[in-house]
Amino acid sequence: MKDTCKYTLYFLTGNKHKVLEVKEVARKYDICIVQESIGKLEIQAKDLAEIAWYAAVNYYLHYRKPVLVEDAGLFIKSLNGFPGPYSSYAFKTIGFNGILRLMKGIDDREAYFESVVVIVYEPYIIIERARVYGEISRAPRGKKGFGFDPIFIPQGEKRTFAEMDVAEKNMYSHRAKAVSRAFEKLLTLVKV
Ligand code: IMP
Repeated sequence: MKDTCKYTLYFLTGNKHKVLEVKEVARKYDICIVQESIGKLEIQAKDLAEIAWYAAVNYYLHYRKPVLVEDAGLFIKSLNGFPGPYSSYAFKTIGFNGILRLMKGIDDREAYFESVVVIVYEPYIIIERARVYGEISRAPRGKKGFGFDPIFIPQGEKRTFAEMDVAEKNMYSHRAKAVSRAFEKLLTLVKV
């Protein structure tokens, strides 16, 4: 990856998989992504946008650098949207095997991932939200990716996200869609 771009965004995350996914999209927009691993402000809220917005604005007020924050969650229909905004905690505690146990005997496997991206690039704040619909597999499959990737099959596919490489996952993913939209908007705003 080249190290000079027209625009640079500091991506506030400790997740190297997210960085690879976002970098793969950013290349197409001449945007450089620099991972910022310092801990971010994590408020508790039902809406991912609120969580991401607070983290991004708080970072910007401290460091005055253009920042990107992305927050995501897995929403399972038959579990009334669980784990949703609590996905990180659910992953750390029960993991994807725990989700499969909760869904034992449930035929309705419908689920979606939602991603919210917030970019603070003075004087603009951009917020984009996107989803990928799909289903929860009966058993985990694949070793790639992270989090709930081994149990999520996007619509139109037979493979789980964990059976795809980054570029393939990005053809479907909530994150790739939300960051592409946010980058489009950023470039439109800063060009004028
Ligand atoms: P975060 O708060 O945005 O880091 O996401 C919360 C949790 O949702 C993560 O710890 C993952 O377990 C899960 N998650 C978010 N996005 C993805 C994804 O693209 N694939 C698999 N799991 C994900």
